[in-house]
Amino acid sequence: MSSNENVNNPYHRTAESYEKKLNLPIVRSFRRAEERKLKSLFDSMIRADDTVLEIGCGTGYYTRDIVKRAKHVIALDDSDTMLRIVRERLPEADRAKVEFVRSEGTQYAPDEQVDIVMHIGVLDYVKEWEHFLTHSLTHARRAVIFTCPTDGLWGQVFHLLARYEGVRIQRYHRRQIEKFISEKFPGWKVEMELVGLNSGWTGAMTWVAALTRA
Ligand SMILES: C[S@@+](CC[C@H](N)C(=O)[O-])C[C@H]1O[C@@H](n2cnc3c(N)ncnc32)[C@H](O)[C@@H]1O
Repeated sequence: MSSNENVNNPYHRTAESYEKKLNLPIVRSFRRAEERKLKSLFDSMIRADDTVLEIGCGTGYYTRDIVKRAKHVIALDDSDTMLRIVRERLPEADRAKVEFVRSEGTQYAPDEQVDIVMHIGVLDYVKEWEHFLTHSLTHARRAVIFTCPTDGLWGQVFHLLARYEGVRIQRYHRRQIEKFISEKFPGWKVEMELVGLNSGWTGAMTWVAALTRA
């Protein structure tokens, strides 16, 4: 594997079946709250003139929403198969607004800052998360939107299941993100919300985070 791939990315092996996984009733149900929150962020934050860099676009689950709201989208993934699927699935008019890039996220630098950087479901597989977030914040003019697993019960379950595939899942707590941003990027504001299977005794599955320039 070259350094232009995340070696901890399981989708190099499972890209073809990702869409099937997304359609499982259990996955649809825990993604529902995440999707609702993300779409409300898209509505309030993406402007018609924006360029959005979406790292880890996968099969385009969110790309198709982002492209409707923005002027230009850079859809990046380090899996060729994912990029083929997203390219095929977008309607022609939307595809014309999208630039497809095959690269590991931090190995790519846009020619100039983009308005918004996003990564939905990617920090799960990233070992050097501070480096990854530094890259996002450096290339974003206005905002960074991302999701990541919590360090609660569901995060532990996800982590243990993934170990069978030889994949390491990173889990996050609010203070770790807030501390990093306040120390390294003091000009940025952090908002984080818990979504997905959120009950009193289990805690939630996923953080949805929006970082904005204060
Ligand atoms: C869980 S999928 C999420 C896909 C899509 N964002 C969604 O929400 O449906 C994670 C995606 O990130 C890609 N990925 C993982 N690590 C990456 C990295 N370091 N750089 C670029 N893409 C990465 C994978 O190939 C996969 O397509």
